[in-house]
Amino acid sequence: MAENITIIEHPLIQHKLSLMRKAETSTAKFRSLMTEISMLLAYEVTRDLPLRYETIQTPMAEMEAPILAPDKKLVVVSIMRAGQGILDGILQLIPSARVGHIGIYRDPNSLVPIEYYFKVPHDIEDRDMLIVDPMMATGNSAVAAVHRLKQTNPKSIKFLCILAAPEGINHFQDHHPDVPIYAAAIDQGLDAYGYIIPGLGDAGDRLFGTK
Ligand code: URA
Repeated sequence: MAENITIIEHPLIQHKLSLMRKAETSTAKFRSLMTEISMLLAYEVTRDLPLRYETIQTPMAEMEAPILAPDKKLVVVSIMRAGQGILDGILQLIPSARVGHIGIYRDPNSLVPIEYYFKVPHDIEDRDMLIVDPMMATGNSAVAAVHRLKQTNPKSIKFLCILAAPEGINHFQDHHPDVPIYAAAIDQGLDAYGYIIPGLGDAGDRLFGTK
């Protein structure tokens, strides 16, 4: 397997992921766990955000204090609909991030990806982009979303998921070897329906209680 992937292994993330995987975990609990995991993953994914120094006054003394320095705020793009679960966590940590959405489904007959929703900030060329989707299964929607988002020419792109299957990672890296993937875990593989095994089931259904 490929190089451009970081597995963010941390006891808190692994523990929360195990709770998410359990079939008996409720919708409310699943949702809050996804928010918490996303905040922990975001900590690592944003490690290289630039800092500048600003003179501030504490109650005790003046100091040069580090402040986040991107000229333009990060844009987080959620792949609908399960990406919303990660987005919520990231926005708690980086409330000033800009947000984009992309909706893609695969036509069941032609298998061609069809875009049904697309909205991103207009000045995206100056922004670093973080694309989020909790499950990288076949990798088809991730490949199509990144392909479409590259057309907007952001400054940089990273892809964040919670679980990835080896098939999806290989497919993604065949098409977008330049885009780093961040994940909490890589699972065994896919079943005949494209679900990740052991996985956690359908992330969108579990997040929104639509099963
Ligand atoms: N999408 C999901 O939500 N779960 C999977 O296992 C695969 C794709």
